[in-house]
Amino acid sequence: MGLFSWDDIYSLEHPQIDHEHQALFAMAEELHQAMLNGSGAAALGGLLNNLINYTQVHFSHEEALMRRHGYPGMAAHVAEHRKLAEQVVDLQKKYAAGRLTISMETMHFLRDWLDRHIRRSDQLVAQHIRSHEGMLSRA
Ligand code: FE2
Repeated sequence: MGLFSWDDIYSLEHPQIDHEHQALFAMAEELHQAMLNGSGAAALGGLLNNLINYTQVHFSHEEALMRRHGYPGMAAHVAEHRKLAEQVVDLQKKYAAGRLTISMETMHFLRDWLDRHIRRSDQLVAQHIRSHEGMLSRA
């Protein structure tokens, strides 16, 4: 089993977000496997870039949903996204400069972040969206 294995505990019962989270897990696992297989720097760098680009797109989708549904915890949630984005861009710069190898430590950091963020922060967003949609449908 991979380090980034999708599990139903991550389901937010929001098809679009769940789908994007599954894609993130798949891309992170692809990077993890390439690392384990000793793929070259160019291949790993490409996979890392793909993962980073997709993460940015995904964050912007989540943020648009939060805005649309007036999520009260949006500022703190966006701050979590920004902090990860900064950390990851820093990794990417170090990697591009040849000062970093993709390590298990990096992989575990990403895994723990995804695990925590999805099960706590994103779950709260999904709950808010459900109750807000319920309010709209009753209005
Ligand atoms: Fe999020």
